[in-house]
Amino acid sequence: MLILGIETSADETAAAVVEDGTKLLSNVVASSLDLHKVYGGIVPEIAARSHLEVITPVIDEALKSAKTSLDDIDAIAVTYGPGLAGSLLIGVMTAKSLAIAKQKALYAINHVQAHTYAAFLGYKQPQFPLLVLTVSGGHSSLVLFKSHKSYKVLGQKQDDAVGEAFDKVAKMLGLPYPGGPSIAEAAKHGDSRKYSLPKAKTEGRYDFSFSGLKTAVLRLAQEETGHDYTFPSSALPEALTEAQKQDIAASFQRVAIETLVDKLKPAIEEFQPKSIVVAGGVAASTELRRQTKQAGIDAIYPDIKLCTDNAAMIAALAYFTKPTTNPYKLSVQPSLGL
Ligand code: KG4
Ligand code: ZN
Repeated sequence: MLILGIETSADETAAAVVEDGTKLLSNVVASSLDLHKVYGGIVPEIAARSHLEVITPVIDEALKSAKTSLDDIDAIAVTYGPGLAGSLLIGVMTAKSLAIAKQKALYAINHVQAHTYAAFLGYKQPQFPLLVLTVSGGHSSLVLFKSHKSYKVLGQKQDDAVGEAFDKVAKMLGLPYPGGPSIAEAAKHGDSRKYSLPKAKTEGRYDFSFSGLKTAVLRLAQEETGHDYTFPSSALPEALTEAQKQDIAASFQRVAIETLVDKLKPAIEEFQPKSIVVAGGVAASTELRRQTKQAGIDAIYPDIKLCTDNAAMIAALAYFTKPTTNPYKLSVQPSLGL
């Protein structure tokens, strides 16, 4: 079964063709990232306009490199939430139009749930019960899947998502957006044990909270420049030395990732999963891969290019769950939960 996936929830316009949920035939991602960089984060209006400009060529390219055509596709899968409303609309309207015009089945996909399915496109198929840590710019969650269609959310973010904390700390240090890769780069030259930073206690055992860590980094940076808490964060990049930035980046990265591993360990003990998947943009982190390995956790990580947003994971989830929807009725759900 050939599924065309379409993903436009944030700044990536993506299309992919996947066969039987596991075989990647094409994966095209066009990002408007460079247009947002100067603003230090995604600008929704720019993202939506950019999706509109590139969605058709991106889909054409995905079909072409999979050596197929819309006529030979069996179904179309599209992200309908969560995400930016204007961005989601472009993908959903396009998918609806194609499904109606070509009389194809249309599947409505939850973006956060889909991150897990990037792991089904690798050489080692995850087994159930499956424990999944999803860590991205918008989400941090720990979910136990009994089967494709039956899962329980063990914990979720209570405030900032972990990727969001990386992005905000990077901004404080004057490092480019997105923060994950730029913090990792700065951290290579820093001392990760230079500063001790707090790990948040959450009410739910498997919940996540990163806003306290982010504020602790802000206070630390202010202190390091010899000022108090009134010193504006926008002046920090100028006031900090390169060495201070590198040590702060390394210490923050170590503690943020330790916090994730600290959640994963007791969940593995408690639920004894057959497989463990770590997914989402932050799963691209080499520090996370290093720390899980060091803790003896045998986790399945998707291919790096499938960790961040893509449409292959959308098509893969669609194959396994087949959430058919009426193309005349589907609308976007920007705050869709798991
Ligand atoms: O999954 P994704 O592409 O978009 C969302 O659904 O949010 O994740 C993007 C997030 C950003 O916050 C980015 O800073 C983070 O993933 N990220 C990383 C790394 N690469 C991307 N975080 C830590 N280390 C990385 N290497
Ligand atoms: Zn995502």
